[in-house]
Amino acid sequence: MAHLLNPGVNHEGIRSVAGRICVEKKDPMKRKAFLEEYHSRELTLRITIEEKAVPQSDSISYQQLELKKLADTKYPIEEALRRRCSTLAFGDRPVEVTKLQQLFEAARWAPSSFNEQPWSFVLTMKHDGQEDYERLLGCLMANNREWARRAPVLVLSIAKHHHETGGKVNPYSFHDVGLATENLTVQATALDLFVHLIAGFDAARARELFMIPETHQPVCVIAIGYFGNLEILTPEQQRRELSPRHRRPFKEFVYAGRWGNPTELISD
Ligand SMILES: Cc1cc2nc3c(=O)[nH]c(=O)nc-3n(C[C@H](O)[C@H](O)[C@H](O)COP(=O)(O)O)c2cc1C
Repeated sequence: MAHLLNPGVNHEGIRSVAGRICVEKKDPMKRKAFLEEYHSRELTLRITIEEKAVPQSDSISYQQLELKKLADTKYPIEEALRRRCSTLAFGDRPVEVTKLQQLFEAARWAPSSFNEQPWSFVLTMKHDGQEDYERLLGCLMANNREWARRAPVLVLSIAKHHHETGGKVNPYSFHDVGLATENLTVQATALDLFVHLIAGFDAARARELFMIPETHQPVCVIAIGYFGNLEILTPEQQRRELSPRHRRPFKEFVYAGRWGNPTELISD
């Protein structure tokens, strides 16, 4: 059973039906405005869901999942950061080329050490050039392939691990590929897309299949698409998809003065 813990929260977009929360704003713009309103009023929706009360056969809407997956922040953050999550439930809907253009534009503007921009990406699409897509999908570990095969777009990220001049190792190449990937990910979330990163793949095989030179290193596979439907998932995947997202407390990673000493400025 899901219920609103704060009974004072009342919004036309929310109604409680038989103990469940439904968000009726299906229009993406209205939904965005709705979530922003909640965020700005700092009314955090707290929903508890008993796992056993979510029947396998029952359809749980994207909006319901989204509310459950929203980062439970103590301090306000950008809406796309709050909404980003690694879904397993990709739908078949192809990603528009205009959106893909925006994703790689966002990646392009990431910062990088010495502005080396050590990232490159091999873009593969299920609905266009399916052979490449299948080849990349074939590089994934079986457990990842099981859900990633539904994502309409798979991208291989690659790092150039030596500096442009002098040939020395660039120790920040993976870091900077990560920055570019996060830019892409946040932009995707702002466009109502979902991104799930995958390190569980055969990098040597990907290198061979996509003819990546020795100067470069495959980093991750990036699954991109729209949210589909929870019912397509196995019970184990549904359990994972519906479990709340957790993060370490600030005191474990923001220090003052010396390592291990929690700062009082940013409290849990
Ligand atoms: C570098 C990297 C590699 C990852 N590899 C996998 C993977 O192989 N399989 C998988 O299911 N998820 C993978 N993930 C997703 C993480 O499990 C996920 O980001 C984490 O559990 C936090 O969940 P959230 O992204 O929904 O906040 C990866 C994430 C990152 C950043």
